[in-house]
This record gives sequence, structure tokens and C-alpha cells, in this order.
Amino acid sequence: MIKSIILTFLFVFSSLPIFAGEGMWLPFLLQQMNEKEMQSMGMKMSAEDIYSVNKGSLKDAIVQFGGGCTGEIISGSGLLLTNHHCGYGQIQSHSSLENNYVDKGFWAKSQKEELSNPGLTATFIISMADVSTSILKGVTDKMSASEKQSMVDKNMEQLKKNYAKESYQEILVRSFYKGNQYYLFVTETYRDVRLVGAPPSSIGNFGVDTDNWIWPRHTCDFSMFRIYADKNNKPADYSSDNVPFKPRHFLPISMDGIKEGDFTMVFGFPGSTNEYLPSESIKQITDLSDPVKVALRTRALDIMHKYMVASEAVKIKYVTKAAGISNGWKKWQGEMEGLKKTDAFGKKQKYEAEYNRLLNSNAALKAKYGGVLEELNANVIKSNDYVKIREYSLEILRTNIEMLRYYSKLDALVNAFEKNGGEEMMKKADAVKSWGPGYFKNYERKIDEETFAALLQMYYNDVDKEYIFKGLESLAPNSDQYTANVKALFDASYLNSEEKLNELLIKKPEDLANSIKSDPAYIFYKEMIDQYNVKVAPNVTLYEGKVTSGMERYMAAQMEVFKDRKFYPDANSTLRVTYGKVNSYAPRDAVKYEFQTYLDGVMEKYIPGNYEFDLPPKLIELYEKKDFGPYAENGKIPVAFIATNHTTGGNSGSPAIDAYGNLIGLNFDRVWEGTMSDYNYDASICRNIMVDIRYVLFIIDKYGDAKHIVDEMKLVHPKSKPKGVKTTPKGVTKKPSAKK
Ligand code: ARG
Ligand code: GLU
Repeated sequence: MIKSIILTFLFVFSSLPIFAGEGMWLPFLLQQMNEKEMQSMGMKMSAEDIYSVNKGSLKDAIVQFGGGCTGEIISGSGLLLTNHHCGYGQIQSHSSLENNYVDKGFWAKSQKEELSNPGLTATFIISMADVSTSILKGVTDKMSASEKQSMVDKNMEQLKKNYAKESYQEILVRSFYKGNQYYLFVTETYRDVRLVGAPPSSIGNFGVDTDNWIWPRHTCDFSMFRIYADKNNKPADYSSDNVPFKPRHFLPISMDGIKEGDFTMVFGFPGSTNEYLPSESIKQITDLSDPVKVALRTRALDIMHKYMVASEAVKIKYVTKAAGISNGWKKWQGEMEGLKKTDAFGKKQKYEAEYNRLLNSNAALKAKYGGVLEELNANVIKSNDYVKIREYSLEILRTNIEMLRYYSKLDALVNAFEKNGGEEMMKKADAVKSWGPGYFKNYERKIDEETFAALLQMYYNDVDKEYIFKGLESLAPNSDQYTANVKALFDASYLNSEEKLNELLIKKPEDLANSIKSDPAYIFYKEMIDQYNVKVAPNVTLYEGKVTSGMERYMAAQMEVFKDRKFYPDANSTLRVTYGKVNSYAPRDAVKYEFQTYLDGVMEKYIPGNYEFDLPPKLIELYEKKDFGPYAENGKIPVAFIATNHTTGGNSGSPAIDAYGNLIGLNFDRVWEGTMSDYNYDASICRNIMVDIRYVLFIIDKYGDAKHIVDEMKLVHPKSKPKGVKTTPKGVTKKPSAKK
């Protein structure tokens, strides 16, 4: 009996991750770590088909798009697919009142009509290698964090200098497993990336904020670009002489759709996760950080929405701002719920008990890592108070109150004056002047003033006395005078209107500096930020520093204590593979969500004239006529689907790939109940959300009348092929030139 309990324990903890779906794996280690499991889940490819340095492989079709998103190549002429919300800035920048591509969509009729985007890049990963030994040479456990860092920096510089690469390539070295390992990436960054097509935002961002993070989902979140290269197919700045890029590999597109239980993988650049935290960090997130941020943003969004509902003009000004604030707000709520529901804290405590049991039964490990976990948890607890005040301060000073956020600009003027004199200040003043019209065009003082009053009152009532500064005290937050006092502060502020700002900026240098310094709202801002910088930031840095170095040791310890467990490194914006299965889920009692949505569901949500759920007439017409082309399944257009792939921010635009290496969808979100996968993946409720590729093709062809773009792609029918014939992905082409 005892033995079987121990065996169960050992099984549970040493074979983690136990759920198919968890993990963001390194493409170059798939063969040793994942290939068998992937194949047992239904994959018909080899690890070499996914990542190879010797031949074109799936990884050659994946790019980091514009820094924060992922894109994939879907034709032999460099056609690139990513999310609408990833290409949004570009779509918007080409839009004018006459040609509003955000509202109307955009489809280049030929390559000549494709639109260039200065600054936009697409980065391929050419190869990866484990360089831990060279980077950690000379580093010892005895060194302090900063001694270690300077050794690592030195080694890194040396390595980068000597590593063989072509002139058009770059070398990137990143730390993994909390600084215990280092991997090197050879990359190629293309700089001429042109806009090819995008649906109107009523389709590409259908459901806007109400549906964000929500399943069932009906958004066609895609846009298309094309990479251009010089005549040798190498990266080049924009030039009309550039030609469409020829990839080593592009993804064929499966027309066969998905069914429950199908193998899927998502290939992309996940930004950041923290899966190996100690229990006290989970508690900090669940009980402290997330609740503070959510409470403040709930108030801020309530106020914004009140005014947006009342006025169309205000709505236009605040839609984008509200979306930015709401994205994190909604995600954190799901995260808190999910962490509680799956008892992430309790799970961590059990895990830590097992860790300690194993550690203490091994003298060598105990000597090396004894006390590491306890100290780490203790430091997290010590950081709690500072973290709380940090969340308050940053949400108030940097995010939710526009006036306070922009006092940093006036503060920079004062600093310039005091350090470098009037002339330097006036140069900066010009920049502030040019920024004014854009800022005030979308500014509503009444919203900002009300938000200020609400959030600072919350601050006043919830933080320790020691963080209440003079300016706040004198507003008397809990008195009848508070609203009037806040109004007076805004009345006196140079940032309350464009006229007031201009009145300030025409002043002579010394007068200008003095006027800012005597602006009561500036004084308020200064008091708050100074106290943050003096009383809070150094302590946050101190304890976070301790937590960071504690995590480095604890990570190493976990990997040694659970020797047989497969550890995947936390996301860090490097290329990863995650795999799982198409799967429905049941987040609450008596609630079960199907894995696929259809165009019928888009129509169900349709609200004429509503800014989130309106639809263009042409889509309704196509729906009513059932003019679906070859993209329907049983007479319905599939729209989106979910699976157990472990994804996070940065995976936006990542391809969802079938068992054979074909594109079946485009990742763009996760379900609300499962956003805690950043700390605690749980296959019962964690799902990623993808647009079904057939909806994308339908919109391009039937809605956009841009069949020529679909014709460029390679459409395949992997499921209707006789079984067991071909296991390599299609579309793999020989590399044009041999590489080392
Ligand atoms: N939640 C997704 C992400 O984190 C989509 C955000 C963009 N869409 C939106 N409706 N705000 O990026
Ligand atoms: N929308 C996210 C992004 O822009 C992806 C959703 C997630 O966090 O999983 O990367």
C-alpha cells in the first residue's frame, strides 16, 4: 500500500508535465524530448521535418513578426499570414478618410498595389545551439549576481564575435531556465514587408472587447503581408527593385478541417511565462497583484464606458484606450479565477513537499540546495507590501490616468532646464508642442478627472499610511470636499486642455520651468513619483533581485531533484513548439463548450449599428445565399476552434499545424478560464483559440474578391489521401544553397 502511494507520487511528480498539451518546447530538442509523444498523439511527421539545419523544414516558414507577434509563410512568393491585431498598426497607418482600410478592408489586386511599411520586420531562425558551456565558463556558485552577470556578458560578447555567420545574419544569445542555460540563435531579418490584405475590422476584430478572451469566438483575426528580398533573396531595405522572397519552406493549407481529438501544434514566439514559481509567488499573484490591478481597472473602465455609451464622439476617442486597458484587465480576472479553481497554490505546496522529501533523502543535493526554496518563499513574502504599492503606483501613474502619465513629459522639460539649461529645454518643448494636438484630440477631461478621483481614493483607503503624501492628504479624499478639490487641481493644471498647454509652451525658458514647477498637478505628480522612486522602487528591486537569484537556484534544484521529469524552459520570445489536441472543455458545472464555431454563430451575435457586433452587408448576403465556395463543411462555414496547445502572448499569428505539417488555423487568443496557463497549465480548462483557415480563405475569396491571393497558396487534402503513404510535409523544397 505505502509503496503504491509512493509510486503514485513518483509518477505524478517525476513524469510531469502529465497532461498532453503542457509545454513550450525548443524546436532543436524535439527529437530527444518530444518526438515519440507527438507521434503517439497522432503526428505523422518526424522531429527533423519540423526543425532541421540540413533541409527546408517547418521552422523555415515561421517568422517573428514586427517584434511582438508571429507570422507564417504560406506561398512560394513570400506571402505571410498573421493576425489582424498584429497588422493593425500598418493597416491603420495606410488608412485615410477616403481609403479607410480599417473600416473597409484592403486587398491588393496585384503585387504592385502592395503597401510598404517602414520599420516592419520579419525574422527567421536559421539555427539554434546550446552554448551554456561557453557562456557559463568561469561562473561559480560563490559569485554574487552582479559578478556572475559581468562574467556572462563577457563570455557572450566573445562568443558572438567568434561565431561563424553570414554578413546578413545576426546572432542572438538568450538565457533559459532562469539563467541556468544559454542558447544561441542565428537569425535573418527581412526589412521590406508589405501589406497584401486585411478584412474590415468588423470581421477581423468582430466582437472587439466583449468577446476578447472569450469562447465561443467568431473573429476572423487575420491580415496578410509579403516579404520582399533583394535579387539574391537576402534581406534588404525597401526598394522598388526588391522581389518577392523565396522561402526554404512554406505551409500548405489543409482544406480538410479538424475534428475532436486531432493532433495540432502551434509554432511561434511566446513572450513570457513563469511555470516554476514557488507557492508564495502564486499566492502573491492570486491574492495581491491581480486583485489590485483588476480593481483599479474595473473602476477606470466603468467610468470610460459610462461616457462612451452616452456619446458616439467620446466612444471614438476612447475605443482604443479602453481596449488596451481591458485586455489585461480581462486576462487577469480569468487568471485569478483559474488559479483558484485549480488550486494552483495547493498544488504548488504539494509539489514543494515532494521536492523537499526527495531533496532531504539525498545528502549531496541537500548540501547543495538545502534552504533555497524556504529562502525564496520568505523573500517573496517580504516583497508583498512593496509589490502591492508598486501595482497601485504603476496603474495610477503610468496606465489609467492620462494627465499623470503625461506629466512625465513636463517633468523632462524641468530636468533638461536644470541639467542642461534653457536651450536644451526648448528643444524638448518643441516635441511636447507637436505631441499636444494628437493627445488632446482624444482627451476628455471629465473622464480623466473622474478616474483620477476614483483611483486615488482607492489608493488612499487601501495603502499603508506611510505612502500617503502631502498632496493627496490635502485633497481630503474621504470628505465632501474631495470632488471639488480634484476639480480645482485639474482647473489649475497646464495639462487640462490644448489651450492651457500652448499658453505654457510659449513662455521663455526660465518662466516655463518655473510655471511647471508651480503647477499644483505637477507638484502632486512629483510627490507621488518621488516617493515611489525613493520608498518603493529600491525595495522592489532589492527583493525582486533576491527572488530572481533565488529562482535561478531553485530552477537548477528542481531540475536535479526531479531528474526524470522533462522540463521546458519558460517562454522568452524565442521560437517554440507546443502541441496538443482539438478539444472541447467544461469550465463550470453543467457548462460544456464545443470545439468549433460556425458562421451561423457570427450571425447570431450580429447587432446592426453596434460598434462591436455590426457586420458588413456583403457578408450577410453571402451567408444568406449560402455562397460559400469550396470552404464549407456540411453546408456551414467553420469559423474558429480550440485545442489544448499551451500558448501565450506573442503566439498571436502563430500557425496551427496538423499532423502532416499543413496549416489548419491561425492562433489569436486563449479562453478566459485558462489564462492562468502562464503559471499553471491545466489541460482541463486551458485552451488556445484559432481562426479556422477555411474562414480566412472564404473571406479572402468570397468577401474580398481576391481569389488570386488564394490561388497563390497550395491547398491540400491530407485526410482524403490513402493512409500511410506520405509522412513528410508537403511544400518542403530543397534549400537553394547548402548551409553549414
Ligand atoms: N486577447 C488577445 C491578445 O492578448 C487579443 C487582443 C486584441 N483584441 C482585442 N479585442 N483587444 O493579444
Ligand atoms: N492575443 C495574444 C497575442 O497577441 C495571444 C493570446 C494569448 O495571450 O495567448 O499574442
